[in-house]
Amino acid sequence: MEMPKAPINPQKIVVFSGAGISAESGLKTFRDSNGLWENYPVEVVASINGWRNNPELVLDFYNQRRLDAANATPNKAHLAIAELEKKFDVVVITQNVDDLHERAGSSNVIHLHGNLTQARSSIDPGLIYDIGSAAIHIGQTCGLKSQLRPNIVFFGEIPYFLNEAKNHIIEAACVLAVGSSLVVEPAASLLKKARFHAAKTLVTLDVDKVPFGFKLQRGKATELVPYFCQRWLSAGKFTNT
Ligand code: APR
Repeated sequence: MEMPKAPINPQKIVVFSGAGISAESGLKTFRDSNGLWENYPVEVVASINGWRNNPELVLDFYNQRRLDAANATPNKAHLAIAELEKKFDVVVITQNVDDLHERAGSSNVIHLHGNLTQARSSIDPGLIYDIGSAAIHIGQTCGLKSQLRPNIVFFGEIPYFLNEAKNHIIEAACVLAVGSSLVVEPAASLLKKARFHAAKTLVTLDVDKVPFGFKLQRGKATELVPYFCQRWLSAGKFTNT
């Protein structure tokens, strides 16, 4: 029997972000690079098999992405989302591994696919180390003497915090999805948990399929996200867009 759903919290918004929100900060999206990252096929540099076959290449790939992210700055979309915390209960659920939401001032950010600013043990996923923008090299080991790896969820691994993310979306009076092609599962299916009466908006440039009940607002994150956030802050409540 389905458990009764938690009541909607009228003050709660979940922002579900993807690579497109960081595009205007200069960080390449996956889709816009035709599925290649720095000319490497994803399965070579971002999969569990790629890690096993050539850990040095994977470490170098993420060392470069970590530097790119450290040199990027939050854009107006990140800042507008942080601003919402003035009046609302905001949870950011991001597929991104950069820390631009945090650096913009968002205080409650859930990284489904991990964080570039962290390393982890390659045998115990719970053994995590904050490394900022530092590189990880072959030979650097965790407390259990295993090779350190990026705290990134590789293709073929299970994303983090899925259940927590689902529970936040169920309670949200507003779900704002920004800059995602919604092709990667199981992250994208989280949006199906948004409530019928919640205000649901998808801001992106292009998407194959708009999730049921979501209003597609086609445009740039730095233009549309500040506009909607300002509208909600002025009204003191979430409205459909
Ligand atoms: N403003 C708004 N949307 C944008 C902008 C922009 N300036 N630039 C690009 N986009 C949109 C694109 O139209 C696309 O729909 O952002 C989306 C980016 O899609 P992807 O590159 O597939 O990124 P994402 O959806 O986050 O990918 C999900 O797949 O790449 C793997 O694990 C990685 O977390 C990532 C996951």
